[in-house]
Amino acid sequence: MENLQSSVLSILVLHGPNLNLLGQREPGIYGSLTLNAINDLLAATAENLGVEVVTLQSNHEGVLVDAIHGAVGKHQGVLINAGAYTHTSVALRDAIAAVNLPAVEVHLSNIYRREEFRHHSYLAAVVVGQISGFGARSYLLGLQALVHHLQAASSPELK
Ligand code: DQA
Repeated sequence: MENLQSSVLSILVLHGPNLNLLGQREPGIYGSLTLNAINDLLAATAENLGVEVVTLQSNHEGVLVDAIHGAVGKHQGVLINAGAYTHTSVALRDAIAAVNLPAVEVHLSNIYRREEFRHHSYLAAVVVGQISGFGARSYLLGLQALVHHLQAASSPELK
């Protein structure tokens, strides 16, 4: 008999450099929640959406590149706050483009209201969309947007 049960969507959440210091790092800009607290909120939101999240933080560009490569076949989408690599990393941009998995870019702060060097994102052109400026809620909105995007892709009537 055909197995009609669809498998649960799995999203890889990547946190880039210095985000391990959230809670103590420039709280006026990034808020007072720790990374663990944000990951807990993501897990709760994922449960409500009926999806699974796997989170990883790294201060190393190559580790993030490897994680994106490793997502193929394991995860259906990538939610990423690349931190400062957003503004510098062609390698991360190429990794996202290479794996062809839908990705959503998020930022706690509104990068367009800050220093000029933060206004350009190397990732923006290869992601489905970007959410910037809503603090920890950027991640939750980004997760929702990514899940809706994936569900719309498998049910075109939702598009
Ligand atoms: C950030 C914005 C980046 O410019 C900065 O380098 C970060 C965090 C954000 O979430 O607002 O590390 O990605």
